[in-house]
Amino acid sequence: MDRTVTAVTGTEPDRVAVGLPPVVGGRLEVPLVTGRRVTYANLDYAASTPSLTAVQQAVDRLLPWYSSVHRGAGFASAVSTSAYERARETVRSFTGAAPDATVVFTRNTTDALNLLGRALPAGTTVFRFNTDHHAALLAWRGSRVHRLARAATPGDAVVQLAKALADAPKGPRLVVITGASNVTGELWPVADLAEVARIHGARTVLDAAQLAGHRPLDLAGWNVDWVALSGHKMYAPFGAGALVGAADWLDAADPYLAGGGATARVDEEAGGESVAWSGLPHRHEGGSPNVVGVHAMAVACRTLAATGWDTVVRHEQALTARLREGLAAVPGVRVLDLWPDGHPRLGVVSFSLSRLGDAFADQRLVATALSAEHGIGVRDGAFCAHQAVRSLLGDAAGHQGDRALRASIGMGTTSEHVERLLAALEDLVRRGPRWSYDRPEDGWRPVPDPRPLPDLLRGNGNPPVLSE
Ligand code: ALA
Repeated sequence: MDRTVTAVTGTEPDRVAVGLPPVVGGRLEVPLVTGRRVTYANLDYAASTPSLTAVQQAVDRLLPWYSSVHRGAGFASAVSTSAYERARETVRSFTGAAPDATVVFTRNTTDALNLLGRALPAGTTVFRFNTDHHAALLAWRGSRVHRLARAATPGDAVVQLAKALADAPKGPRLVVITGASNVTGELWPVADLAEVARIHGARTVLDAAQLAGHRPLDLAGWNVDWVALSGHKMYAPFGAGALVGAADWLDAADPYLAGGGATARVDEEAGGESVAWSGLPHRHEGGSPNVVGVHAMAVACRTLAATGWDTVVRHEQALTARLREGLAAVPGVRVLDLWPDGHPRLGVVSFSLSRLGDAFADQRLVATALSAEHGIGVRDGAFCAHQAVRSLLGDAAGHQGDRALRASIGMGTTSEHVERLLAALEDLVRRGPRWSYDRPEDGWRPVPDPRPLPDLLRGNGNPPVLSE
Protein backbone atom coordinates (compact mmCIF):
# COMPACT_ATOMS: atom_id res chain seq x y z
CA MET A 1 0.00 0.00 0.00
CA ASP A 2 1.23 3.52 -0.75
CA ARG A 3 1.14 5.08 2.72
CA THR A 4 2.01 8.60 1.53
CA VAL A 5 -1.12 8.71 -0.58
CA THR A 6 -3.51 7.13 1.90
CA ALA A 7 -2.13 9.29 4.72
CA VAL A 8 -3.35 12.42 2.96
CA THR A 9 -6.71 11.00 1.93
CA GLY A 10 -7.86 9.98 5.40
CA THR A 11 -10.55 12.62 5.73
CA GLU A 12 -12.63 14.83 3.49
CA PRO A 13 -10.47 17.99 4.05
CA ASP A 14 -7.27 15.95 3.48
CA ARG A 15 -8.74 14.53 0.30
CA VAL A 16 -9.49 18.01 -0.98
CA ALA A 17 -5.97 19.17 -0.01
CA VAL A 18 -4.36 16.69 -2.44
CA GLY A 19 -6.29 18.29 -5.30
CA LEU A 20 -9.44 16.15 -5.45
CA PRO A 21 -12.53 18.27 -6.00
CA PRO A 22 -15.24 18.24 -3.32
CA VAL A 23 -18.36 16.15 -3.79
CA VAL A 24 -21.85 16.96 -2.53
CA GLY A 25 -22.57 14.88 0.57
CA GLY A 26 -18.89 14.29 1.32
CA ARG A 27 -19.63 15.03 4.98
CA LEU A 28 -23.16 13.67 5.11
CA GLU A 29 -24.17 12.33 8.53
CA VAL A 30 -26.44 9.29 8.75
CA PRO A 31 -28.18 7.77 11.76
CA LEU A 32 -27.37 4.31 13.12
CA VAL A 33 -29.89 2.00 14.77
CA THR A 34 -28.09 2.64 18.09
CA GLY A 35 -29.04 6.34 17.94
CA ARG A 36 -25.50 7.50 17.10
CA ARG A 37 -24.78 9.49 13.95
CA VAL A 38 -21.70 8.93 11.77
CA THR A 39 -20.29 10.32 8.54
CA TYR A 40 -21.72 8.29 5.69
CA ALA A 41 -19.20 5.91 4.14
CA ASN A 42 -20.47 5.85 0.58
CA LEU A 43 -18.88 2.77 -0.99
CA ASP A 44 -21.37 2.49 -3.85
CA TYR A 45 -19.77 4.63 -6.55
CA ALA A 46 -20.10 1.91 -9.18
CA ALA A 47 -23.89 2.27 -9.07
CA SER A 48 -24.04 6.07 -8.87
CA THR A 49 -21.46 8.68 -7.97
CA PRO A 50 -22.36 11.72 -5.89
CA SER A 51 -22.50 15.06 -7.66
CA LEU A 52 -19.35 17.14 -7.77
CA THR A 53 -19.83 20.40 -5.87
CA ALA A 54 -18.74 22.19 -9.06
CA VAL A 55 -21.56 20.43 -10.92
CA GLN A 56 -24.12 21.38 -8.26
CA GLN A 57 -22.97 25.02 -8.45
CA ALA A 58 -23.08 25.02 -12.24
CA VAL A 59 -26.63 23.65 -12.18
CA ASP A 60 -27.64 26.34 -9.68
CA ARG A 61 -26.19 29.00 -11.98
CA LEU A 62 -27.95 27.60 -15.04
CA LEU A 63 -31.39 27.23 -13.47
CA PRO A 64 -32.39 30.94 -13.59
CA TRP A 65 -31.65 30.75 -17.34
CA TYR A 66 -33.44 27.46 -17.79
CA SER A 67 -35.86 27.63 -20.67
CA SER A 68 -36.84 25.64 -23.75
CA VAL A 69 -33.98 24.30 -25.88
CA HIS A 70 -34.14 24.80 -29.69
CA ARG A 71 -37.73 26.05 -29.41
CA GLY A 72 -37.94 29.53 -27.91
CA ALA A 73 -37.09 32.97 -29.25
CA GLY A 74 -36.43 34.43 -25.79
CA PHE A 75 -32.98 35.26 -24.47
CA ALA A 76 -33.14 32.59 -21.73
CA SER A 77 -34.03 30.05 -24.40
CA ALA A 78 -30.96 31.07 -26.39
CA VAL A 79 -28.78 30.69 -23.27
CA SER A 80 -30.22 27.22 -22.53
CA THR A 81 -29.76 26.17 -26.15
CA SER A 82 -26.19 27.41 -26.13
CA ALA A 83 -25.40 25.51 -22.89
CA TYR A 84 -26.88 22.37 -24.43
CA GLU A 85 -25.07 22.65 -27.77
CA ARG A 86 -21.71 23.67 -26.25
CA ALA A 87 -21.81 20.57 -24.10
CA ARG A 88 -21.48 18.41 -27.22
CA GLU A 89 -17.94 19.57 -27.90
CA THR A 90 -16.94 19.19 -24.23
CA VAL A 91 -18.27 15.62 -24.08
CA ARG A 92 -16.74 14.73 -27.46
CA SER A 93 -13.35 16.01 -26.39
CA PHE A 94 -13.64 14.18 -23.02
CA THR A 95 -14.11 10.86 -24.86
CA GLY A 96 -11.11 11.46 -27.13
CA ALA A 97 -13.33 10.97 -30.19
CA ALA A 98 -12.35 12.48 -33.56
CA PRO A 99 -13.46 16.10 -34.14
CA ASP A 100 -16.15 14.98 -36.60
CA ALA A 101 -17.74 12.47 -34.19
CA THR A 102 -21.45 12.80 -33.52
CA VAL A 103 -22.59 13.35 -29.93
CA VAL A 104 -26.16 12.22 -29.25
CA PHE A 105 -27.42 12.93 -25.75
CA THR A 106 -29.38 10.14 -24.09
CA ARG A 107 -30.61 9.32 -20.61
CA ASN A 108 -27.71 7.00 -19.68
CA THR A 109 -25.51 4.21 -21.05
CA THR A 110 -28.40 1.72 -21.32
CA ASP A 111 -30.30 4.25 -23.40
CA ALA A 112 -27.24 4.97 -25.56
CA LEU A 113 -26.61 1.27 -26.27
CA ASN A 114 -30.28 0.68 -27.05
CA LEU A 115 -30.19 3.62 -29.46
CA LEU A 116 -27.25 2.04 -31.27
CA GLY A 117 -29.03 -1.33 -31.14
CA ARG A 118 -31.97 0.19 -33.04
CA ALA A 119 -29.64 1.77 -35.60
CA LEU A 120 -27.83 -1.42 -36.63
CA PRO A 121 -28.07 -2.17 -40.36
CA ALA A 122 -30.19 -5.19 -41.28
CA GLY A 123 -28.29 -8.45 -40.90
CA THR A 124 -25.76 -7.18 -38.34
CA THR A 125 -24.14 -9.78 -36.10
CA VAL A 126 -23.30 -8.51 -32.61
CA PHE A 127 -20.46 -10.06 -30.57
CA ARG A 128 -20.44 -9.68 -26.81
CA PHE A 129 -19.23 -11.53 -23.72
CA ASN A 130 -21.62 -13.32 -21.37
CA THR A 131 -19.99 -11.54 -18.42
CA ASP A 132 -21.03 -8.08 -19.68
CA HIS A 133 -23.45 -5.77 -17.88
CA HIS A 134 -27.09 -6.34 -18.92
CA ALA A 135 -27.13 -3.13 -20.98
CA ALA A 136 -24.24 -4.38 -23.13
CA LEU A 137 -25.74 -7.86 -23.13
CA LEU A 138 -29.35 -7.14 -24.05
CA ALA A 139 -29.50 -3.99 -26.19
CA TRP A 140 -29.23 -6.05 -29.39
CA ARG A 141 -32.32 -8.17 -29.12
CA GLY A 142 -33.48 -7.40 -32.66
CA SER A 143 -30.17 -8.66 -34.12
CA ARG A 144 -28.25 -11.89 -34.41
CA VAL A 145 -26.02 -12.13 -31.33
CA HIS A 146 -22.86 -14.17 -30.97
CA ARG A 147 -22.32 -14.94 -27.28
CA LEU A 148 -18.73 -15.18 -26.13
CA ALA A 149 -18.00 -17.26 -23.02
CA ARG A 150 -16.39 -15.97 -19.84
CA ALA A 151 -12.77 -15.18 -20.74
CA ALA A 152 -10.09 -16.87 -18.61
CA THR A 153 -7.63 -14.03 -19.23
CA PRO A 154 -7.64 -10.75 -21.21
CA GLY A 155 -5.64 -12.57 -23.90
CA ASP A 156 -8.29 -15.31 -24.03
CA ALA A 157 -10.93 -12.61 -24.64
CA VAL A 158 -8.98 -11.38 -27.67
CA VAL A 159 -8.44 -14.92 -29.00
CA GLN A 160 -12.13 -15.86 -28.53
CA LEU A 161 -13.22 -12.74 -30.38
CA ALA A 162 -10.79 -13.30 -33.26
CA LYS A 163 -12.02 -16.88 -33.71
CA ALA A 164 -15.68 -15.90 -33.54
CA LEU A 165 -15.21 -13.13 -36.10
CA ALA A 166 -13.26 -15.41 -38.44
CA ASP A 167 -16.11 -17.97 -38.37
CA ALA A 168 -18.98 -15.47 -38.51
CA PRO A 169 -21.36 -15.01 -41.43
CA LYS A 170 -20.68 -12.14 -43.81
CA GLY A 171 -22.45 -8.83 -43.30
CA PRO A 172 -22.18 -5.94 -40.86
CA ARG A 173 -20.65 -6.74 -37.47
CA LEU A 174 -20.56 -4.94 -34.18
CA VAL A 175 -18.29 -5.88 -31.26
CA VAL A 176 -19.35 -4.70 -27.81
CA ILE A 177 -16.39 -3.91 -25.57
CA THR A 178 -16.70 -3.35 -21.83
CA GLY A 179 -14.33 -0.64 -20.59
CA ALA A 180 -14.23 -1.81 -16.99
CA SER A 181 -16.30 -4.52 -15.32
CA ASN A 182 -18.95 -3.19 -12.94
CA VAL A 183 -18.56 -6.43 -10.95
CA THR A 184 -14.80 -6.86 -10.63
CA GLY A 185 -13.45 -3.46 -11.72
CA GLU A 186 -11.06 -5.15 -14.14
CA LEU A 187 -10.02 -3.09 -17.15
CA TRP A 188 -10.68 -4.85 -20.45
CA PRO A 189 -8.09 -4.84 -23.26
CA VAL A 190 -10.01 -2.23 -25.25
CA ALA A 191 -7.38 -1.40 -27.88
CA ASP A 192 -6.55 -5.09 -28.54
CA LEU A 193 -10.21 -6.07 -28.94
CA ALA A 194 -10.80 -3.07 -31.20
CA GLU A 195 -7.82 -4.02 -33.35
CA VAL A 196 -9.08 -7.58 -33.82
CA ALA A 197 -12.51 -6.23 -34.68
CA ARG A 198 -11.01 -3.86 -37.23
CA ILE A 199 -8.98 -6.65 -38.87
CA HIS A 200 -12.22 -8.60 -39.36
CA GLY A 201 -14.18 -5.62 -40.66
CA ALA A 202 -16.27 -5.19 -37.51
CA ARG A 203 -17.37 -1.95 -35.88
CA THR A 204 -16.93 -1.48 -32.12
CA VAL A 205 -18.84 0.15 -29.30
CA LEU A 206 -17.31 0.76 -25.89
CA ASP A 207 -19.51 0.51 -22.80
CA ALA A 208 -17.69 3.13 -20.73
CA ALA A 209 -20.33 3.46 -18.00
CA GLN A 210 -17.93 2.24 -15.34
CA LEU A 211 -14.74 3.58 -16.88
CA ALA A 212 -15.61 7.17 -17.73
CA GLY A 213 -15.29 8.85 -14.31
CA HIS A 214 -12.16 6.93 -13.35
CA ARG A 215 -9.77 6.74 -16.31
CA PRO A 216 -9.19 8.86 -19.42
CA LEU A 217 -10.97 7.77 -22.60
CA ASP A 218 -9.19 7.70 -25.96
CA LEU A 219 -11.76 6.69 -28.56
CA ALA A 220 -9.68 7.78 -31.56
CA GLY A 221 -6.45 6.29 -30.16
CA TRP A 222 -8.18 2.97 -29.45
CA ASN A 223 -9.81 3.04 -32.88
CA VAL A 224 -13.24 2.47 -31.38
CA ASP A 225 -16.34 3.59 -33.33
CA TRP A 226 -18.75 4.51 -30.52
CA VAL A 227 -18.70 5.04 -26.80
CA ALA A 228 -21.68 5.03 -24.43
CA LEU A 229 -21.48 6.77 -21.06
CA SER A 230 -23.63 7.95 -18.15
CA GLY A 231 -23.55 11.24 -16.24
CA HIS A 232 -24.73 9.53 -13.07
CA LYS A 233 -21.57 7.44 -12.89
CA MET A 234 -19.26 10.40 -13.53
CA TYR A 235 -20.34 12.86 -10.83
CA ALA A 236 -23.24 14.46 -12.74
CA PRO A 237 -26.38 12.63 -11.57
CA PHE A 238 -28.92 14.73 -13.46
CA GLY A 239 -30.30 12.18 -15.88
CA ALA A 240 -28.10 12.59 -18.96
CA GLY A 241 -25.81 10.23 -20.84
CA ALA A 242 -24.37 10.13 -24.35
CA LEU A 243 -23.56 8.05 -27.39
CA VAL A 244 -20.52 9.46 -29.18
CA GLY A 245 -19.00 8.29 -32.44
CA ALA A 246 -19.49 7.54 -36.11
CA ALA A 247 -22.38 9.23 -37.89
CA ASP A 248 -23.17 6.81 -40.73
CA TRP A 249 -25.25 4.07 -39.03
CA LEU A 250 -27.01 6.62 -36.85
CA ASP A 251 -27.80 8.86 -39.80
CA ALA A 252 -29.26 6.02 -41.84
CA ALA A 253 -31.51 4.76 -39.03
CA ASP A 254 -35.07 5.74 -38.18
CA PRO A 255 -35.26 8.12 -35.22
CA TYR A 256 -34.93 6.43 -31.86
CA LEU A 257 -37.95 8.38 -30.55
CA ALA A 258 -40.48 9.71 -33.04
CA GLY A 259 -41.73 13.14 -32.08
CA GLY A 260 -40.87 16.83 -31.77
CA GLY A 261 -37.22 17.70 -32.19
CA ALA A 262 -36.57 14.66 -34.38
CA THR A 263 -38.64 16.11 -37.22
CA ALA A 264 -37.73 18.68 -39.88
CA ARG A 265 -41.24 18.78 -41.45
CA VAL A 266 -44.52 16.91 -41.11
CA ASP A 267 -47.31 17.01 -43.72
CA GLU A 268 -50.74 15.51 -43.85
CA GLU A 269 -51.11 12.75 -46.37
CA ALA A 270 -53.86 10.38 -47.30
CA GLY A 271 -53.81 7.67 -44.65
CA GLY A 272 -51.24 9.30 -42.37
CA GLU A 273 -48.39 11.82 -42.30
CA SER A 274 -45.32 12.23 -44.39
CA VAL A 275 -42.35 13.09 -42.23
CA ALA A 276 -38.96 14.53 -43.08
CA TRP A 277 -36.79 13.56 -40.13
CA SER A 278 -34.07 15.84 -38.75
CA GLY A 279 -30.41 15.06 -39.37
CA LEU A 280 -27.95 14.17 -36.63
CA PRO A 281 -27.77 14.63 -33.74
CA HIS A 282 -31.36 15.90 -33.32
CA ARG A 283 -32.73 12.93 -35.28
CA HIS A 284 -32.20 10.74 -32.19
CA GLU A 285 -33.06 13.33 -29.52
CA GLY A 286 -36.85 13.43 -29.86
CA GLY A 287 -38.74 15.27 -27.10
CA SER A 288 -37.56 18.18 -24.95
CA PRO A 289 -33.85 17.74 -24.27
CA ASN A 290 -32.41 17.48 -20.75
CA VAL A 291 -30.42 20.71 -20.77
CA VAL A 292 -29.70 20.59 -17.03
CA GLY A 293 -28.37 17.03 -17.18
CA VAL A 294 -26.29 17.67 -20.27
CA HIS A 295 -24.79 20.87 -18.85
CA ALA A 296 -24.01 19.00 -15.60
CA MET A 297 -22.28 16.26 -17.56
CA ALA A 298 -20.16 18.78 -19.46
CA VAL A 299 -19.10 20.49 -16.21
CA ALA A 300 -18.16 17.08 -14.75
CA CYS A 301 -16.04 16.38 -17.85
CA ARG A 302 -14.25 19.71 -17.46
CA THR A 303 -13.74 19.24 -13.71
CA LEU A 304 -12.31 15.75 -14.15
CA ALA A 305 -9.94 17.03 -16.85
CA ALA A 306 -8.86 19.99 -14.69
CA THR A 307 -8.27 17.73 -11.67
CA GLY A 308 -5.85 15.64 -13.71
CA TRP A 309 -6.08 11.89 -14.20
CA ASP A 310 -2.87 11.31 -12.23
CA THR A 311 -4.50 12.72 -9.10
CA VAL A 312 -7.71 10.75 -9.59
CA VAL A 313 -5.97 7.47 -10.41
CA ARG A 314 -3.38 7.72 -7.60
CA HIS A 315 -6.13 8.26 -5.02
CA GLU A 316 -8.29 5.43 -6.29
CA GLN A 317 -5.42 2.99 -6.71
CA ALA A 318 -4.15 3.53 -3.16
CA LEU A 319 -7.61 2.94 -1.69
CA THR A 320 -8.29 -0.05 -3.95
CA ALA A 321 -5.02 -1.71 -2.97
CA ARG A 322 -5.84 -1.28 0.72
CA LEU A 323 -9.42 -2.51 0.22
CA ARG A 324 -8.31 -5.66 -1.59
CA GLU A 325 -5.48 -6.34 0.85
CA GLY A 326 -7.84 -5.84 3.82
CA LEU A 327 -10.59 -8.03 2.35
CA ALA A 328 -8.12 -10.83 1.72
CA ALA A 329 -7.31 -10.81 5.44
CA VAL A 330 -10.94 -11.10 6.66
CA PRO A 331 -11.70 -14.78 7.37
CA GLY A 332 -14.35 -16.27 5.10
CA VAL A 333 -14.30 -13.39 2.61
CA ARG A 334 -13.85 -14.35 -1.01
CA VAL A 335 -13.10 -11.62 -3.56
CA LEU A 336 -14.58 -12.23 -7.02
CA ASP A 337 -12.14 -11.74 -9.90
CA LEU A 338 -12.35 -12.69 -13.53
CA TRP A 339 -8.61 -12.58 -14.02
CA PRO A 340 -5.50 -13.13 -11.91
CA ASP A 341 -4.64 -10.58 -9.24
CA GLY A 342 -2.29 -7.91 -10.54
CA HIS A 343 -4.42 -7.16 -13.61
CA PRO A 344 -5.21 -3.39 -13.83
CA ARG A 345 -8.54 -2.54 -12.24
CA LEU A 346 -10.75 0.25 -10.94
CA GLY A 347 -11.93 0.60 -7.35
CA VAL A 348 -14.82 -1.84 -7.76
CA VAL A 349 -14.53 -5.00 -5.62
CA SER A 350 -17.23 -7.67 -5.35
CA PHE A 351 -16.94 -10.29 -2.68
CA SER A 352 -18.91 -12.77 -0.62
CA LEU A 353 -18.83 -13.79 3.03
CA SER A 354 -19.26 -17.43 3.91
CA ARG A 355 -20.20 -16.95 7.59
CA LEU A 356 -21.79 -14.42 9.93
CA GLY A 357 -20.80 -15.48 13.42
CA ASP A 358 -21.93 -19.10 13.67
CA ALA A 359 -24.50 -18.89 10.83
CA PHE A 360 -24.21 -19.04 7.05
CA ALA A 361 -23.95 -15.51 5.67
CA ASP A 362 -26.88 -14.03 3.79
CA GLN A 363 -25.17 -11.30 1.73
CA ARG A 364 -28.20 -9.02 1.91
CA LEU A 365 -28.20 -9.22 5.70
CA VAL A 366 -24.52 -8.22 5.66
CA ALA A 367 -25.31 -5.15 3.52
CA THR A 368 -28.24 -4.26 5.79
CA ALA A 369 -26.11 -4.56 8.95
CA LEU A 370 -23.28 -2.50 7.40
CA SER A 371 -25.75 0.32 6.86
CA ALA A 372 -27.75 -0.01 10.10
CA GLU A 373 -24.84 -0.52 12.51
CA HIS A 374 -21.92 1.20 10.75
CA GLY A 375 -23.29 3.86 8.37
CA ILE A 376 -21.71 2.16 5.34
CA GLY A 377 -23.42 2.03 1.93
CA VAL A 378 -22.48 -0.92 -0.30
CA ARG A 379 -24.52 -2.73 -2.95
CA ASP A 380 -25.59 -6.36 -2.70
CA GLY A 381 -27.10 -8.54 -5.39
CA ALA A 382 -25.96 -9.41 -8.88
CA PHE A 383 -25.25 -5.85 -10.09
CA CYS A 384 -27.19 -6.06 -13.40
CA ALA A 385 -24.66 -8.67 -14.50
CA HIS A 386 -26.37 -11.88 -13.41
CA GLN A 387 -24.35 -14.21 -15.60
CA ALA A 388 -21.03 -12.76 -14.46
CA VAL A 389 -21.93 -12.87 -10.77
CA ARG A 390 -23.38 -16.38 -10.94
CA SER A 391 -20.33 -17.66 -12.75
CA LEU A 392 -17.92 -15.99 -10.30
CA LEU A 393 -19.87 -17.18 -7.25
CA GLY A 394 -19.76 -20.68 -8.68
CA ASP A 395 -16.03 -20.49 -7.99
CA ALA A 396 -16.48 -19.35 -4.38
CA ALA A 397 -16.19 -22.31 -2.03
CA GLY A 398 -18.66 -22.34 0.87
CA HIS A 399 -20.84 -19.63 -0.63
CA GLN A 400 -24.64 -19.93 -0.66
CA GLY A 401 -27.07 -18.17 -2.99
CA ASP A 402 -26.57 -16.00 -6.05
CA ARG A 403 -25.89 -12.64 -4.43
CA ALA A 404 -22.61 -10.92 -3.70
CA LEU A 405 -21.55 -7.71 -2.00
CA ARG A 406 -19.77 -4.88 -3.79
CA ALA A 407 -17.71 -2.01 -2.42
CA SER A 408 -16.79 0.67 -4.94
CA ILE A 409 -14.89 3.88 -4.54
CA GLY A 410 -14.27 7.20 -6.24
CA MET A 411 -13.07 10.73 -5.72
CA GLY A 412 -15.08 11.28 -2.53
CA THR A 413 -13.90 8.11 -0.79
CA THR A 414 -11.51 8.43 2.16
CA SER A 415 -9.28 5.82 3.78
CA GLU A 416 -11.49 6.04 6.89
CA HIS A 417 -14.41 4.70 4.80
CA VAL A 418 -12.34 1.73 3.69
CA GLU A 419 -10.98 1.00 7.17
CA ARG A 420 -14.48 1.21 8.64
CA LEU A 421 -15.75 -1.36 6.14
CA LEU A 422 -12.89 -3.74 6.85
CA ALA A 423 -13.32 -3.47 10.63
CA ALA A 424 -17.10 -3.93 10.34
CA LEU A 425 -16.74 -7.03 8.16
CA GLU A 426 -14.22 -8.55 10.52
CA ASP A 427 -16.64 -8.01 13.40
CA LEU A 428 -19.63 -9.37 11.44
CA VAL A 429 -17.75 -12.49 10.42
CA ARG A 430 -16.53 -13.19 13.95
CA ARG A 431 -19.57 -12.17 16.01
CA GLY A 432 -22.48 -11.78 13.60
CA PRO A 433 -24.76 -8.73 13.69
CA ARG A 434 -25.10 -6.91 17.01
CA TRP A 435 -28.70 -5.78 16.31
CA SER A 436 -31.69 -7.93 15.53
CA TYR A 437 -33.19 -8.19 12.06
CA ASP A 438 -36.24 -9.77 10.55
CA ARG A 439 -36.93 -10.75 7.02
CA PRO A 440 -40.08 -9.46 5.36
CA GLU A 441 -40.49 -10.49 1.73
CA ASP A 442 -38.23 -7.84 0.23
CA GLY A 443 -35.08 -8.39 2.29
CA TRP A 444 -33.78 -7.79 5.80
CA ARG A 445 -34.88 -5.04 8.18
CA PRO A 446 -33.48 -3.96 11.57
CA VAL A 447 -35.92 -4.49 14.44
CA PRO A 448 -36.50 -1.98 15.86
CA ASP A 449 -35.37 0.59 13.32
CA PRO A 450 -35.46 3.99 15.04
CA ARG A 451 -33.39 5.81 12.38
CA PRO A 452 -35.21 9.08 11.64
CA LEU A 453 -35.69 10.20 8.07
CA PRO A 454 -34.12 13.53 7.06
CA ASP A 455 -36.36 16.60 7.10
CA LEU A 456 -36.79 16.51 3.32
CA LEU A 457 -38.94 13.37 3.63
CA ARG A 458 -40.89 14.34 6.72
CA GLY A 459 -44.31 15.90 6.96
CA ASN A 460 -47.14 15.46 4.45
CA GLY A 461 -48.28 12.42 6.39
CA ASN A 462 -44.99 10.53 5.74
CA PRO A 463 -43.86 8.16 8.49
CA PRO A 464 -40.90 9.59 10.46
CA VAL A 465 -38.64 6.52 10.14
CA LEU A 466 -37.25 4.52 7.25
CA SER A 467 -38.94 1.17 7.45
CA GLU A 468 -42.56 2.06 8.23
N1 ALA B 1 -24.89 -0.70 -13.40
C1 ALA B 1 -25.07 -0.20 -12.10
C2 ALA B 1 -24.30 -0.97 -11.07
O1 ALA B 1 -23.38 -1.64 -11.40
C3 ALA B 1 -26.48 0.00 -11.76
O2 ALA B 1 -24.64 -0.89 -9.91
